[in-house]
Amino acid sequence: MNPLFTPNIYQERRNKLSAAFPHGVALFLSNGESPVNYPANTYRYRQDSNFLYFFGLAIPNVVGVIDFEQNKSILFGDDFTIDDIIWMGDQPKMSDLATQIAAEEVRPLAELSSFLKGKSVHFTPPYRAENKIELARLLGKTLEELTPSVELIKKIVSLREIKSLEEIVQMVEANEIGAFMHKMVMKFCKPGATERQLFGIAESIALTMGDGTSFPIILSQNGQTLHNHDHSLTLEEGRLLVMDSGAENVMNYCSDHTRTLPVSGKFSTRQKEIYEMVYQANMAAIANCKPGIQNMENYKLAVTILTEGLQKIGLMKGNLEESVALGTHALFMPHGLGHQIGLDVHDMEDFGENYVGYDDTIQRSSIPGYRSLRMAKTLRPGHVITVEPGIYFIPHLIDIWKKEKKFEAFINYDKLENYKGFGGIRIEDSVLITEEGSRVLGTHLPKSVEEIETILQS
Ligand code: GLY
Ligand code: MN
Ligand code: MN
Repeated sequence: MNPLFTPNIYQERRNKLSAAFPHGVALFLSNGESPVNYPANTYRYRQDSNFLYFFGLAIPNVVGVIDFEQNKSILFGDDFTIDDIIWMGDQPKMSDLATQIAAEEVRPLAELSSFLKGKSVHFTPPYRAENKIELARLLGKTLEELTPSVELIKKIVSLREIKSLEEIVQMVEANEIGAFMHKMVMKFCKPGATERQLFGIAESIALTMGDGTSFPIILSQNGQTLHNHDHSLTLEEGRLLVMDSGAENVMNYCSDHTRTLPVSGKFSTRQKEIYEMVYQANMAAIANCKPGIQNMENYKLAVTILTEGLQKIGLMKGNLEESVALGTHALFMPHGLGHQIGLDVHDMEDFGENYVGYDDTIQRSSIPGYRSLRMAKTLRPGHVITVEPGIYFIPHLIDIWKKEKKFEAFINYDKLENYKGFGGIRIEDSVLITEEGSRVLGTHLPKSVEEIETILQS
């Protein structure tokens, strides 16, 4: 069994949800085992994060129901039989599991469908096919008729996005594991090593110290591809290696760091120029994180620093303010500045990005660059967000924009030709917003040019 917080924590979370709803029930399906190539051969098990938040247990075949009218929680599930125990060993009884999370009642799964009949049932958007089918079966609806509850989504976001002290402790642990993954890769990063070896080192640390990675590791010399999951290359002198990875600790809290390393151990002059821009953007946006600041402002601050830097070396040109306002930087950074992080690496993205990163005070923009921002709203104490600016030279995108003469008053396409093959640079940390300001989670991970070169050469 996975470790749990004390039972009252789950009860208090459910009570807070209950307090917002006079009628109906909230239904939380656990995630099932997911088969690789036949039913008994399964992927690493991962519980649904909403289930973890309200019901804690990281096991399949259970359903959590919060009955808002009765203000009580019911755990639907069946005790294991001897036929299961032969294969699985001794298993806790449902009643013991319910005690561990302070659920008031246990009922067999067979009673769930009739229990739900006639009730107003709130549920979040299902993202696994099996759970879509199960929801449709339980509610007597077609897949198309399944309508997640917007009120439930909004209330859960308001609870989960403010991390409590006990959650921060877990997140710091996840960040320590994640930082160690990066440090070990830095130790072994040298010409002749393979991307696959470094990937294996990082993955094994996540599995040894925690519950595995928080998303498939991105580790590639082709860092211009934002989420490159190919690890087939051998490290070459003169290239840059982007590693974007995170761990889940044993309570499934996540980390997410990116570092970019010169394989040679030393940045070339050209690499250092671009690296410094991304580093300054990362540092300035982190320094600006505090309660009351809209994260959209942090994004603008970061892309202004990047645009100014690119203008200085002649890759961009024109009026700085105008350039930033138009989103011309989207050629170099076609992603946002970051996202909330918690029990999911992109926290609560199962609800859709707009419910998590936007609210009544800020709508998603349609301007290039700005439209990619996942987290735009005002920062509050307890938020944990990533800050991950980058500069990428994406040959296909450059070719398309150049052909369209897109923003040609602001981009020096001729000079840009020389940067095809440069790769990409991203630098990412996770930042907790505090009452006073903010702090980066976990032990400091080498980040400046000097720090990176020192660890690579040690
Ligand atoms: N998991 C990739 C990123 O958002 O950094
Ligand atoms: Mn990342
Ligand atoms: Mn991230």
